[in-house]
Amino acid sequence: MIKIGIVGTGGMASAHAQAFRGIAGCKLVAACDVVKGKARSFAKQYGIPAVYTDVEEMLDGTPVDAIANVTSDAAHCPVSLAAIGRGKHVLCEKPLAVNYAEAKKMAAAAKRKGIINMVNFSYRNAPAIHKAHELVNGGAIGRVIHVEASYLQSWLSSTHWGDWRKGSAWLWRLSKGHGSGGVLGDIGVHILDFASYAAGDIKQVNCDLKTFTKVKGDRIRGYKLDACDSAVIGVELANGAIGTIHTSRWATGHVNSLLLRIYGDKGAIVVDLDRSYNELSVCRGKDVDKSKWRSLRCRRTPDMYHRFVKSIKTGENDQPDFARGAAIQKVIDACFASDVKGRAVSV
Ligand SMILES: NC(=O)c1ccc[n+]([C@@H]2O[C@H](COP(=O)([O-])OP(=O)(O)OC[C@H]3O[C@@H](n4cnc5c(N)ncnc54)[C@H](O)[C@@H]3O)[C@@H](O)[C@H]2O)c1
Repeated sequence: MIKIGIVGTGGMASAHAQAFRGIAGCKLVAACDVVKGKARSFAKQYGIPAVYTDVEEMLDGTPVDAIANVTSDAAHCPVSLAAIGRGKHVLCEKPLAVNYAEAKKMAAAAKRKGIINMVNFSYRNAPAIHKAHELVNGGAIGRVIHVEASYLQSWLSSTHWGDWRKGSAWLWRLSKGHGSGGVLGDIGVHILDFASYAAGDIKQVNCDLKTFTKVKGDRIRGYKLDACDSAVIGVELANGAIGTIHTSRWATGHVNSLLLRIYGDKGAIVVDLDRSYNELSVCRGKDVDKSKWRSLRCRRTPDMYHRFVKSIKTGENDQPDFARGAAIQKVIDACFASDVKGRAVSV
């Protein structure tokens, strides 16, 4: 039985608890949150026996094999390092850290200790992105020439997911002082992983970031609302392709839309998660001259939680690991540098 402690028991922790409860051979044994009431009610909801407000106390007090680090972004590094230091496996939420220096430290510590380490790039749960990766790498669309990718949400212009002015889970995401990388750290990190996993590694970025005024004085209670809301990134890939990746929380009409278009010299692929996680569209071969697109059904792939548990059982670390999380963090750091310098920056 793999014993798991969940650290950070806010909104996303429920997804972890529900997933791990559904996997044979693992058990939730501890819940930890700096806000005791949250940890306590979470533990009650999921039948978790031990409750803590400090990760070190949890690691000392309850024998766990692994932790799910579902804390807010600024705590990813210290919480993961505490667990790694005691030889525990770690599934860490994205972004792996708040900058590349931290992420690199985490990847190095995980490697040194030989523990299983994965970062929850959850859109890798879509079978369509694995099929796109396989097709591109198998040469199905020829040389990759041009890429378009976007991740659009609208929680700043709609109340579909609740009122962002009220909950701390929204407010820390808008505040640099609370460790947020804004839209880049929140959802940009997903689309950078998603797009580059299928289309190829990113070599250079030319990024514009913008933070729009949301309330008078750009401050709510202790939160200064200064983290970026929208990002437009021109990219060059290591395979020579160019493209654009953009992301916003102001994309009215889009709840949670990820779209990836990859154009090669022999064909093209579209992954549109609003349409399907299990199908992608392909135009290639004889269809190219008719610009005809066909839907391709993809075989099922395991989700991140199953991958993590299987990695622990087999001792073989699946992807995306901390090294991958750090590589994406490096792209994000380059985006911030490009925005400040007003020019393209190598990753
Ligand atoms: N992979 C995905 O699709 C996905 C989706 C949503 C959120 N996330 C990520 O999950 C993480 C949590 O997001 P959320 O929406 O649940 O936020 P949240 O604010 O609802 O929850 C975070 C919780 O962590 C707790 N916390 C902070 N520092 C802590 C520490 N040192 N020790 C213990 N607890 C601590 C907070 O008190 C809070 O309860 C974030 O990193 C976010 O980026 C990922």
